[in-house]
Amino acid sequence: MSNSDYRHIGVHPVSAALGAEITGVNIAKGLSDEQFEEIRRAFFENLVIMIRDQDLSEEQQCEFAARFGKLTKSAGLKGDNPIFMVTKSADDRGNNIGGHWHADGTQMEHAPLGSALYAMQVPPYGGDTMFCNLYMAYELLSPGMKAIAEQLIVVHSGKLAYSGKGHVVQDLLDRRADMYDFEAGRIDSEHPLVRIIPETGRKVLYAPSPMAYYFKDMSMQDSEPLLRYFQHIAERAEFTCRFRWTKGALLLWDNRATYHYALNDYYGWDRIMRRVQIEGERPFGPAKPAMEPVSSPFAAVRAADPVVR
Ligand code: SIN
Repeated sequence: MSNSDYRHIGVHPVSAALGAEITGVNIAKGLSDEQFEEIRRAFFENLVIMIRDQDLSEEQQCEFAARFGKLTKSAGLKGDNPIFMVTKSADDRGNNIGGHWHADGTQMEHAPLGSALYAMQVPPYGGDTMFCNLYMAYELLSPGMKAIAEQLIVVHSGKLAYSGKGHVVQDLLDRRADMYDFEAGRIDSEHPLVRIIPETGRKVLYAPSPMAYYFKDMSMQDSEPLLRYFQHIAERAEFTCRFRWTKGALLLWDNRATYHYALNDYYGWDRIMRRVQIEGERPFGPAKPAMEPVSSPFAAVRAADPVVR
């Protein structure tokens, strides 16, 4: 199948690596089963799809996202509503939400399958979102490195991220304190570095920075250079695409097979987005179950490590 095989929607790739714009669709008016099936196929083929010029209520956005799977809340988000507002105002000169390469909520056991982000107000320039293709990152590895990568389990930690000492700086935590119960978000999960996406049966290099802190059964010292190496592979410019926002655009991304990066380059302008997440399966891959810890003369050093112990 290719992007020209669609009969009920238009599918227009935005880069060679990933991403497509979908045309001929009005979500608020309702989708035929054929249209939805083609949107679903376009999503798994292109990993990120944008549908512009939509006029969507919160309920309509949730209903559309729920056709891809059960909705889930961002880890630690208070209340029952799965909606999370990604906002930054014109007078805010600080950090934005998601202004670094990452996938959402990877510290969760069932990290989200995807997110649907709807543009309510966008700056006249800037504020684009970039994505990279983690299938390509896996494919780039040499056979020897693939064999190593397929053995590794990564510990993703919300403990550091939500402590103010990790990538989510204190200023952002303070601004989200009314929405978040950070204690509930301080969870860790172990996920294989190489993950299989069930809908395609293909492997991705799943080392989403920055929640990926270390490899199971390795010290921080051993883990850090390897993690940096895998992250560097994933972020290669040739593996990316970039979406320019317009008001009313809905963007849906596969949060398991991509990283994203919300650019913080629109100082002096408001940007207001509404996000809902779809629950993912428990990540699985070729990595064997974690080894039992072996006793070693360095056990005491490891035990004193604030992260590994
Ligand atoms: C996010 O990281 O989920 C936000 C993406 C964006 O604002 O473009």
